[in-house]
Amino acid sequence: MVTLISSWNGAPATRLAADLHRKGMPLLDAIVEGVKLVEDDPEELSVGYGGLPNEACEVELDACVMDGPLHKAGAVAGLRRVRHAAAVAREVLRRTDHALLVGEGALQFARQCGFVEEDLLTPKARQAWLAWKAELSPRDGWISPREQASDFGHAMWAGHKDNATPGGPPPPNDSSTAPTAPFTYGTIHVSGRDEQGHLFGCTSTSGLSYKIPGRAGDSPIVGAGVYTDDAAGSAGCTGRGESSLHNCAAYEVVRLMEGGASPEQAALQTLARMAGRTRERRLLSTPGRPNFNVTIYAIRKDGATGCASMHQGYEYVLQEGDLTRVLPAAFLFPKA
Ligand code: GLY
Repeated sequence: MVTLISSWNGAPATRLAADLHRKGMPLLDAIVEGVKLVEDDPEELSVGYGGLPNEACEVELDACVMDGPLHKAGAVAGLRRVRHAAAVAREVLRRTDHALLVGEGALQFARQCGFVEEDLLTPKARQAWLAWKAELSPRDGWISPREQASDFGHAMWAGHKDNATPGGPPPPNDSSTAPTAPFTYGTIHVSGRDEQGHLFGCTSTSGLSYKIPGRAGDSPIVGAGVYTDDAAGSAGCTGRGESSLHNCAAYEVVRLMEGGASPEQAALQTLARMAGRTRERRLLSTPGRPNFNVTIYAIRKDGATGCASMHQGYEYVLQEGDLTRVLPAAFLFPKA
């Protein structure tokens, strides 16, 4: 039976991947096809088309795929104008002797491979950027959403489901409901195991919202946002990429599983080490307790799966054959 584990937003991807694989598609290709569904979703603000843009209002995508049997990865970082970043990463894996292409080089490579170029910024993501820009400082030339609401009857932003007022803009002059810009570290990760016990991993994201142009997170970095070792397991991360980078989180999880830890234990141990190594006060709510989240997804060589988050309240997707389930993630810190 095929087994896939993914981030909370991955149910359409794992369902399609399991279906395509059942019809004969190799599992890595099936995972990339599944991830495309999420990359295509304009409502998903953290992946592919519709992802939130960088500081300069341009969408930049990061992705990595890793093939366990070949022990080879392909990745792109800072990819602009091509929505299927995971598929471009797969081309890097299959067509080149390189592991990671970035920025203009990644785009040129994607063009050469025949990927379609387009503007990835949706009206909704542009509105989010405009709200973020306007909220940045009272001392620049941009009028904040709160000031807009008070002077023009409503703020110029009502696009995000967490912030939008049902049925239209906030009531006139109700500056207390002036919305704020959405913010995300969101990502899709999928790790999978086929019937022969071979392992594959894939991570795709638009990265940190409003990031400094050129910022790459953990997602395109082998060992940080994804790591797959056919002899041991596959793991991936979502959440604050810098922390997964500083702790080689996906690699750590796979090594712990190789040493006998269950996927959940391996994820929790890695998160505990990450929390203990978080020293900057701006990243801590109390000593030893990070104020950010990271969620880790893991599948061991024998097919055991597990997922854990830094904080309580997160979910993940488990696909076993045709069965798709959304399950609560284990966690390090209970809700305060
Ligand atoms: N984990 C996604 C990012 O930080 O870019």
